Amino acid sequence: MELSREGLGYVRHPTGRSVFVEGGWPGDQGTFRLTRVEKRFGIARIENLVEASPQRRDHAPCAHFGLKDGQCGSCLWISIAYEPQVEAKRTMITRELKAQGAEVPVTMWPAPSEFHYRNRAQFKTDGERLGYVSRGSKTLVDVKDCVILNETMKNSLHALRSQLPRKDWQPTPPYSWNFIEVDDEVVVERLTERNGPIINQRRPFRQGNTEQNLRMKQWLGETCSDWSGQVLELFCGSGNFTDDLVANKKLEVHAVELAEGPLAELRKRHPLVKTKALDLYRQTSIKELIRSYRNTRYLVLDPPRDGFRMIGDLIRGLPKLERVIYISCNLHTFGLDAFDLNKAGFRLQAIVGVDQFPQTPHIEILSHFKTLAT
Ligand SMILES: C[S@@+](CC[C@H](N)C(=O)[O-])C[C@H]1O[C@@H](n2cnc3c(N)ncnc32)[C@H](O)[C@@H]1O
Repeated sequence: MELSREGLGYVRHPTGRSVFVEGGWPGDQGTFRLTRVEKRFGIARIENLVEASPQRRDHAPCAHFGLKDGQCGSCLWISIAYEPQVEAKRTMITRELKAQGAEVPVTMWPAPSEFHYRNRAQFKTDGERLGYVSRGSKTLVDVKDCVILNETMKNSLHALRSQLPRKDWQPTPPYSWNFIEVDDEVVVERLTERNGPIINQRRPFRQGNTEQNLRMKQWLGETCSDWSGQVLELFCGSGNFTDDLVANKKLEVHAVELAEGPLAELRKRHPLVKTKALDLYRQTSIKELIRSYRNTRYLVLDPPRDGFRMIGDLIRGLPKLERVIYISCNLHTFGLDAFDLNKAGFRLQAIVGVDQFPQTPHIEILSHFKTLAT
């Protein structure tokens, strides 16, 4: 069994279909049950593990973990020892790069702590239970403790749970639950609704692992330390990475993002940064960027999971562009965009796999491209 791009076990079925096995790991032997069959592929779950991969732990260090309905399968890799998880992520990135024609050694940054790292979460509640949702179903799992949450987040989980049962948290049909988003900047006392509604309220985006985010920011600061001139930052949010660009006084920073709220926060901290609110998935926005930023020498982007499929159009319209820093939270869309960058004459110089979310197949990528034209 190999690992698929999404971090599932991958086997070739006798029918010729690719089968993606949830919970499967290289070295496992056993039987799986198909849960979905399509023309060319199938999805399956391990049913009986006859011989477990030597990379598996003796038991999963979480009482809620499991792939059955009613269990929490969010930490899909929690049964695997941590070092093999990191090596698997390296292999997945290397394989993706190779498929896109780029062969650059991949540096991995394991998380400083494989548990107790997560600084934000979205809990679900039906007023009786509070936790996460079972993999592939709508069943709410009542989560009493969560080993990946940091201390502040654990306190928040317990503070919320201590209010159960709550009638006003019950969902209205056809919904099966409400959500409560929390991050470790929310003080526990605020989670009682006395200070305003907390149900179904979105919190602003933030990187989910504080320590790994600090390393990413430091890497960006070092990478851009010898840059001078205009830099365009796309998908800037409230300025998490803008901080590190602004620290270089030789740079003139322009930051673009969809949402006005985060931009206003960014401007409060960095009044000299020029900001623009644009929907970057529209062709008209790309035209506007090309008109406004013809002198841009550097591009830094951190798109959502969908990636930035118009990256080729944009960089072909920016004649002075020398470097691109692409921060990605999705290996598949990163691979597609890296291919387009390559086609447009930009070569990958360095790539780092940042393990922001141990126990899950999620991969965060830092990458640095340079034009062939200079
Ligand atoms: C992965 S987050 C990165 C934010 C920031 N760089 C950080 O580290 O906190 C992606 C950002 O893209 C923004 N975004 C989502 N869709 C967008 C769109 N269509 N156009 C522009 N920005 C968008 C989100 O609001 C979010 O701030």
